[in-house]
This record gives sequence, C-alpha cells and structure tokens, in this order.
Amino acid sequence: MSSAGDYNAVKRDIVAQLKKPDYDDGSTGPVFVRLAWHASGTYDLETDTGGSNGAGMRYEAEGGDPANAGLQHGRAFLEPVKEKHPWITYSDLWTLAGVVAIKEMGGPDIAWKPGRTDLVDDSKVPPRGRLPDGAQGADHLRFIFYRMGFNDQEIVALAGGHNLGRCHADRSGFNGPWVNNPTRFSNQFFKLLLKLEWKPKTLENGVSQFVYEDPDAEEGDEQLMMLPTDVALLTDPAFSVWVKRYAEDKDLFFDHFSKVFAKLIELGIQRNEKEAIINTDNVKGGYISAPKKSNTPGASSGQGGGCPFRARL
Ligand code: HEM
Repeated sequence: MSSAGDYNAVKRDIVAQLKKPDYDDGSTGPVFVRLAWHASGTYDLETDTGGSNGAGMRYEAEGGDPANAGLQHGRAFLEPVKEKHPWITYSDLWTLAGVVAIKEMGGPDIAWKPGRTDLVDDSKVPPRGRLPDGAQGADHLRFIFYRMGFNDQEIVALAGGHNLGRCHADRSGFNGPWVNNPTRFSNQFFKLLLKLEWKPKTLENGVSQFVYEDPDAEEGDEQLMMLPTDVALLTDPAFSVWVKRYAEDKDLFFDHFSKVFAKLIELGIQRNEKEAIINTDNVKGGYISAPKKSNTPGASSGQGGGCPFRARL
C-alpha cells in the first residue's frame, strides 16, 4: 500500500495494467479512455449534475446503462491498482487511468487534478440517456455536448478519441476499429475520415455503420469502420472545418485534445485557489474512497456499500 496522496505510485501501477496481449488489440488503454470519458460525460450544466465526481458507474443505475456496456472490463482491469492503493477514490482512479493511457499510447500530456469523491449510495447517480448514441447525427451531437458546455470545435476534438480502440458487436452492436493501429494515439482518425470512401453497411445484427471497402484487402483483414456520428463530423459544415484542420495539423489536434479532455474530466467540479474541490459532497464527506470491488469483469452491478475508506490528504 502506498501512502495516501502518492498519485505517482498509482500512475506507475496503471501503466503496469496497460499491456494485455490477450485482450482486444493488446492494450487496456482504449477502454480506460472510454471509461474516463463516460464517467465524465454525464454532466448537465443546467442542473449541475453528473460528471466524474462520484464514480456512479459502480451502481447498476449507471453501470448498467446500455451506453456503458463493456466498461466493466475497464473497471475490472483497474481493481488490482485499487487493491494496492485503497486510499484513492474510484472517481480519481478512473479519470487518472484515462489520462495515463492517452500519454502512454503516444498522446499529449493532459492536466489531471485529484480530489474527486465516491458516492456512498446511488441517490445522486445521473439518469440514463445522457451519453451520445453513435447511430445519430450532428443535431444529436450538439444536443448532448452543448448540454455539457462544449462548442463545435471541442466536440470534434473530443471525437478524436476514436483514434483509439474499437467497437464490439457484443457491447454497442457496432463492430471494428476506426484506424489500423488502434493503440497509438494520433490524428489518423481525421485523416481516414477525409481520405477514404465510407459506405453504409448493415451488419448481421441489423446495426448500420460505415465501412471502408479496401480493394487491396486480404482475407482475414479487418474492415475499418466509422459510426454515423463520426461521418456526421464530415457532412456538417461547421464540424468539417475542424476535421480538416486536425487531419492537417497533428500538433494542433494534440493541443486541443489535451485541453478539452482536461475540461471533460473536470466537468461539475469546483475548486478553490488551492485546487481543493469545494463541491458540497466533497467538503461535507471528505475524500471518501469506496471499498474495493471484485476483480471479475461483469461485476458492473455491485453495491458501493460497506465501510468507505476516508483518506486524509
Ligand atoms: C462523439 C460522440 C461519441 C459517440 C457516439 C461514441 C460512441 C462510441 C461507440 C459506439 C463505441 C464502441 C463501444 C464498444 O462497442 O466497445 C465507442 C468506443 C470508444 N470511444 Fe466513443 N463515442 C463518442 C465520443 C467519444 C469521446 C469524446 C471519446 C474520448 C475522448 C471516445 C473514446 C472512445 C474510445 C477510446 C473507444 C474504444 C473503446 C474500446 O476499445 O474498448 N468516444 N465510442
């Protein structure tokens, strides 16, 4: 066990969890990034609810949202880290894992600040339906992301997260990777979106996505894919300006992505001049670190009860 507040020790153990030759493309990094994003992307500016503070995905109400299907794998991969550092809150651990994974996969440094607390019951878990639906278009993206307080440029930069990882038929229903090297962070997603011809395809499960039919493909090669929401970034004039700029300028994309991801994981969090979180739950409850759960994927519906660990930082 590390001493409370030793986030560098936690970072090292997150890095140690990244390489998993038998899982997906050999890395847990992409699912850690999606976990950090979904933990944060429930934020609603108007009611000031949701967001990464609380780690509500430990409860069925949020963890069982179909939009979060598959994220139990990400959470389970982080359990050995939680076991070694029981003082850290899940909400800090999940957001930190996303930031560490992006950097380790070749992405930019992203500012990360600690202090999030874990909900002690599910009474403050945000309602389902706040995360985006990949089957929709530009209006839906604006509806979802404006609600969190993002603008068009920030939406496109965030969507660059799809340089990483893949869709799984047994999770979202969509299938396949966006890029050829899905464990390397880059601006390739934007380049391919612009350069290749994306054709609609209905999968055997009835789900429609876009695919690139590579004339040089060999048997066993996986088809690259795009979600309808990804293609909407190209067809919407205000979004496509940013798709082009990010495809041309990797440094610009990295810079904007770093800023917008830092903003995403801080949604709903208020800090004082010393960077301490001053949200009511955090001030009243302190740094409440929920007890460790099981290491088994599929344990998405566990209860966060028991005796919480209160660390003094
Ligand atoms: C713009 C709206 C978005 C939609 C509609 C969307 C939708 C999806 C869908 C359907 C999947 C596949 C899930 C699965 O089957 O495993 C996925 C995966 C992923 N998304 Fe998004 N997403 C969006 C934004 C983002 C953002 C903002 C990020 C991060 C900055 C992100 C990062 C990822 C990553 C890394 C994966 C791969 C996960 C893995 O390999 O397990 N997405 N997304």
